[in-house]
Amino acid sequence: MSETTTNQQKPTAVQTTGHAWDGDLQEFNNPLPRWWLWSFYATVVFAVIYWFLYPTWPVGSSWTKGVLSATFTEGGKQETMRWNTRSALLEDLQTGADATRQREYFEKIAAADFATIQKDPQMLAFVNQAGKRIFETNCSACHGRGGQGVVGLFPNLVDDDWLWGGTFKDIQYTITHGRNGYMPSFKGTLNTAQLDDVASYVLSLSGEVQADEASARGKQIFEGPVGGCYMCHGDAAKGIKSMGSANLTDKIWTLANVPAATTPEAKIEAVKAVVSNGVINVRTMPAWDGRMSADEIKLMAVYIHQLGGGQ
Ligand code: HEC
Ligand code: HEC
Repeated sequence: MSETTTNQQKPTAVQTTGHAWDGDLQEFNNPLPRWWLWSFYATVVFAVIYWFLYPTWPVGSSWTKGVLSATFTEGGKQETMRWNTRSALLEDLQTGADATRQREYFEKIAAADFATIQKDPQMLAFVNQAGKRIFETNCSACHGRGGQGVVGLFPNLVDDDWLWGGTFKDIQYTITHGRNGYMPSFKGTLNTAQLDDVASYVLSLSGEVQADEASARGKQIFEGPVGGCYMCHGDAAKGIKSMGSANLTDKIWTLANVPAATTPEAKIEAVKAVVSNGVINVRTMPAWDGRMSADEIKLMAVYIHQLGGGQ
């Protein structure tokens, strides 16, 4: 008996709704907890304020626009638009804390000369951070993510070897105006034996192959009127920066895929291919003038100079 009493509902002070079913089945009327009610009211108030401020309800084919707006510059014009995710993002990108800091640094870099930038660790840190991002967006498709280039097509920018010069000014000029090296095809000028000889000579300059009789004949072609190679590559074959002709005495190859060749014969073939075909619009370094601001180009020139052991 005592068990049943404990299991039964104790009579409480809770009110009932006053309805009764099946004689004695009643419904309690428990009030909602106070904290819950207030939270609920707060969300209602929040929603109403939100509807008022932000775009919310669909109305026909349009929607309620809200009263907030965002201001940003587009196409050189300042525009104020009702708040939406696009206008808010544009405003944030242009006037947010990050954007303001960036603009300040950009202005500092624009005003400073190269020597000053190089000595200022803070400016350099900014150059490296912003430069990396710009590089990945605009340059890495050709020069590779790390700037290591692609043999046969795009020069390596992280070695300290420069076709067009590695001073800050040279690099700035390269990026601004683009570059397009030219070398004629020697298919019609030199026969196969002469191509073999001149390729042996080129490779002997960097010790890739042993100097021999063939390379001695090649030297005559290189330095004489038959090949005329010296006119562009220079008497010492070290390249002429104003022409973007390669230095042939280092072991750095941009076009001839010598690194992939394992035998002396394969190396000669790799060089012969380039001399035979020439360098005629195989690839171009685009001009960035007009596509990047002068300040961005300046920043990129500092970045590349840093990256590749500029001169
Ligand atoms: C469409 C491919 C392409 C893109 C994109 C490109 N480059 Fe180049 N870049 C080249 C080619 C090709 C050359 C070599 C041109 C030549 O020697 O004829 C070159 C050469 C250079 C050189 C000179 C290297 C040397 O040894 O003198 C620099 C510096 C350079 N690029 C920087 C950049 C930067 C910075 C960007 C991005 C803003 C960029 N490039 C984007 C293709 C590209
Ligand atoms: C009109 C100027 C010109 C003449 C003449 C010329 N070259 Fe070049 N040569 C260039 C340029 C520009 C390049 C491209 C450099 C680069 O992008 O790596 C080049 C590239 C090369 C390369 C590839 C270098 C590399 O790093 O992969 C070789 C090898 C070469 N030349 C050999 C010769 C030989 C041999 C002759 C003569 C038979 C010759 N060149 C004549 C301008 C010239």
